Amino acid sequence: MCGIVGYVGDKESAPILVSGLKKLEYRGYDSAGVAVVGRNQLNVVRATGKLRNLENRVVAEPPAGTIGIGHTRWATHGRPSDENAHPHAYRGVAVVHNGIIENHLALKEELGGSGHVFSSETDSEVFAHLIADEQERGLELKDAVRAAVARVRGTYALAVVCAQDPSRIVCTKDASPMVLGLSVGQNFLASDVPALLEHTRDFVYMEEGDLAVLTAEKVEIFDREGRPANRPTRRIDWTPVMAEKGGHKHFMHKEIHEQPRAVADTIRGRVLLSEGDVHLEGFGFTPEQVRAITKVTVVACGTSYHAGLAGKLMIESLARIPVEVELASEFRYRDPIVEPTHLCVAISQSGETADTLAAIKEARARGALAMSICNVIGSAITRETAFSLITNAGPEIGVASTKAFTTQLVALYLLGVKLGRLRGRLTVREAQRRLTHLTEIPKLMEAVLRSEGAVKRIAQAFQAAQGFLFLGRGPMHSVAMEGALKLKEISYIHAEGYAGGEMKHGPIALIDDKLPVVVIAPRDPQIAYEKILGNIEEVRTRGGKVIAVLEEGDEQVRKLADHAIVVPPAPALLAPVVATVPLQMLAYHVADLRGNDVDQPRNLAKSVTVE
Ligand code: AGP
Repeated sequence: MCGIVGYVGDKESAPILVSGLKKLEYRGYDSAGVAVVGRNQLNVVRATGKLRNLENRVVAEPPAGTIGIGHTRWATHGRPSDENAHPHAYRGVAVVHNGIIENHLALKEELGGSGHVFSSETDSEVFAHLIADEQERGLELKDAVRAAVARVRGTYALAVVCAQDPSRIVCTKDASPMVLGLSVGQNFLASDVPALLEHTRDFVYMEEGDLAVLTAEKVEIFDREGRPANRPTRRIDWTPVMAEKGGHKHFMHKEIHEQPRAVADTIRGRVLLSEGDVHLEGFGFTPEQVRAITKVTVVACGTSYHAGLAGKLMIESLARIPVEVELASEFRYRDPIVEPTHLCVAISQSGETADTLAAIKEARARGALAMSICNVIGSAITRETAFSLITNAGPEIGVASTKAFTTQLVALYLLGVKLGRLRGRLTVREAQRRLTHLTEIPKLMEAVLRSEGAVKRIAQAFQAAQGFLFLGRGPMHSVAMEGALKLKEISYIHAEGYAGGEMKHGPIALIDDKLPVVVIAPRDPQIAYEKILGNIEEVRTRGGKVIAVLEEGDEQVRKLADHAIVVPPAPALLAPVVATVPLQMLAYHVADLRGNDVDQPRNLAKSVTVE
């Protein structure tokens, strides 16, 4: 939710911190701040609103010092304001925190009783007070941080600097992300890799309960018990350019256009066409285990949940295993039936989503086989699962997920073929046919991207609409849901995604001449083409405006629709990968035309690391 950076070295830290925060602004953007230590003095600069407000202040009066921490906030406790922005400082100790302190009220009361005065409404400020107290009792910074953390109940990624000790940053984490960036004569920390890519490619992912001490020369890591810990250094191949806009107006626009590449990268090296099989690096389940699977349970949130809904049809069709798709936030709080013969698949772009992480832990604890489909190597969810199928989408910065979704669909398809082969449900020839279809998808996506002009004209026609309805059947139901989610999260227009067959059971009441209805209508009998034609007629009869996503050459739908978005034909199971793209573009252009902040829509955060 919040973004953290830290720097210690021989350069001025403030510009490095602000530039790192820019790469993390997607994580939170209601206020930001930096704390820099120079000449045994702590300089804190904070500003409400977007990061540029902080940047202006830092440029006007640069805080001097070669060690510092920074933060971009997404408010949980206390409204967005300068006072509530991080870093929080108390008696020379400054902290930045991502997470939630559940017992902050009790701690504040206790500290207040011994004379502490709080200057913010946040839970995080408690850390600065607790650490300052421990230091005054004679503990060095590292031990003071550990002692403070021991008094807190909740989740945290925490970084601390202090005026009395201007050579080191101490950081620690539990359930919120933190990576360390290693370099020569300087070291870094951040919530996420893109913040540091311009400085280093060598990263250490801290584990739960780890505490690290960073100086310019070295990084020491200790585990929860305080023992020195040896964590592997990973080389990350993402380039800084991958985390830049590259000439596009917004990250979301760039990421929509990157999809053919992202999908190709997710397929590359995994499709074994001549063998009619799929190679999944690290897939450690034995053929016996796979044959014994009686159910697949997908746990995910938001867009990743929609990918799971499409994945259900893929896995059921390719491997003939029953699949349940569960909202992770619901799964974790009920008493789910989980057996050792169940395979639980967590889907998450970030690999950090608190509900998805908790759900997969729950499934594991109850004995299920656990795997994940994630975009971030080394993220919490990948570390929680025996096998991770990494979607090679590259960094996704726009808050609205696009390339993560289509690469998740492709990963689910690969998984379906893999399971189908291992269970003897797909012959070599059939698998070859299915995999050939898959390799053709990037080209089809490129063709769809070329229709952006037509999609933009439709966006212009409907930018002032009050609501939208999206309809799809079979695999296109999840596409309708995803199209509606995309539109509402960045345009703030209410939208519903429905299965076509459900329209008569309620949403039909919404239809009048002001309601645009997006109908995803591929000409495929497996996707109930005739029935979706019926839906279009029902909308037209009631005056609704039909925007049809139709296949090349489909004159029947073209004649019925008020507006047409043409896509190339694709096999039913893979059609969602292609048909989602124009809906992403529609949402993007509507939001942009309305003047919204497309990459950082109001109230949202890229990764939801709190419940
Ligand atoms: C997508 O556009 C959303 N911003 C959101 O629904 C997201 O998909 C959800 O929070 C899950 O995130 P994850 O994939 O990183 O777990």
